Amino acid sequence: MEFEKVIESRRSYRALEKVEITENMIEQLVKAASLAPSCYNNQPWEFVFIRSKEKLEQLFDAYSKGNEWCKQASAVIVVISKKEDDCVIEQRMYYQFDTGMATSMLLLKATELGLVAHPIAGFNPAKVRAIINLPSDYEIITLLIIGKKSLDLSSLTKTWQIESEMHRPERKKIQEFFFIDNFGK
Ligand SMILES: Cc1cc2nc3c(=O)[nH]c(=O)nc-3n(C[C@H](O)[C@H](O)[C@H](O)COP(=O)(O)O)c2cc1C
Repeated sequence: MEFEKVIESRRSYRALEKVEITENMIEQLVKAASLAPSCYNNQPWEFVFIRSKEKLEQLFDAYSKGNEWCKQASAVIVVISKKEDDCVIEQRMYYQFDTGMATSMLLLKATELGLVAHPIAGFNPAKVRAIINLPSDYEIITLLIIGKKSLDLSSLTKTWQIESEMHRPERKKIQEFFFIDNFGK
């Protein structure tokens, strides 16, 4: 797929159907993430792939209200990191930024593979931590809900979610966040 097409096609769809997530797909996703830049090449990101039916069902109880659509996930990737694993320069902590960049690479590779990879913040971290036996010094940054786009919208509980399947949520105007030479211009 052309790069431009990958960028344009990536969407956080919520209506999902099951798809087999093969070893080869996982390898490609992880490889893409691993090539992201990071401060001093610290590579602070780690990913826990959840594929077993048993663990996917345990996660049902961890999803926030409104994220019931996540129960259709074919896999879930728990994105984790810790502050100590990356640069801290004065007040600037880079672990979340670098982990975000690696995650973005993974999202784009998933798109190229024909998968939906949807990041969510709406989950109970304590429950997820218990399910994957995550040590307390790690932070759970996001869960990536992996699946295949479905045309069946019946799992969506809110009107805005249905609307968002048809149209990409609106972006800010470029003038609102992009400036040349001076802030605000
Ligand atoms: C950090 C983060 C947290 C998000 N949390 C949720 C969530 O809990 N539930 C949900 O349905 N979508 C969630 N989203 C998806 C956003 O709503 C979506 O990316 C945004 O509306 C833009 O749509 P698009 O990704 O299709 O372009 C999250 C996205 C990010 C990056």
